[in-house]
Amino acid sequence: MFDTMTLTKAGGALCGSLLILLLGNWAAEGLYHTGPSGHGGDGELTQAYAIDTGADDAAGEEVADAGPPFAEVYAAADAAAGERVFGKCKACHKLDGANGVGPHLDGVVDRAIAGVEGFAYSDALAGMSAEAWTPEHMEAFLASPKGYAPGTKMSFAGLPKVEDRANVIAYLATIGG
Ligand code: HEC
Repeated sequence: MFDTMTLTKAGGALCGSLLILLLGNWAAEGLYHTGPSGHGGDGELTQAYAIDTGADDAAGEEVADAGPPFAEVYAAADAAAGERVFGKCKACHKLDGANGVGPHLDGVVDRAIAGVEGFAYSDALAGMSAEAWTPEHMEAFLASPKGYAPGTKMSFAGLPKVEDRANVIAYLATIGG
């Protein structure tokens, strides 16, 4: 029933299988043998992946561009344009030595802060009276009156444009007291 050829084939197949089994065993030993202190022991667990905390991202944030520095803009300021900006101040400020809602602003540049006799300043400005209205101080005040002098009585939102601030200060500097 079995001829020689069939037996040879069967024997060959058996030998081949055994050989593969042996080779597989040997390969597995070589690949996975980790010794007595290997995995599964009570050795310390190592972190398998990095946790991204986003800490590096913060360093990459850019500071908002604040625009040209005031000194530069003030050096090229236009007093005539400043006179037009002063239209926003006229409701409260006069330039003829008389106080209105606000103190008169003739001669205000380099005048002492809260320096007009008889004007009832807020404590915020009165507390700064040791300083003078340098262009830089006035620039900061006009950018945000309530930010510069919290508690000020000047109900004015401020001049958001640095050019407007520089121009109106340049205009006021031409008005003597
Ligand atoms: C709604 C009224 C009002 C407007 C508008 C206004 N101010 Fe005033 N300003 C005041 C009052 C009130 C004070 C006094 C503030 C205080 O005592 O806290 C003041 C104070 C000041 C001072 C300080 C003067 C000092 O003697 O110390 C300056 C400078 C000034 N204003 C500039 C301006 C300019 C420039 C503008 C226009 C861009 C302007 N203000 C618009 C009401 C106003």
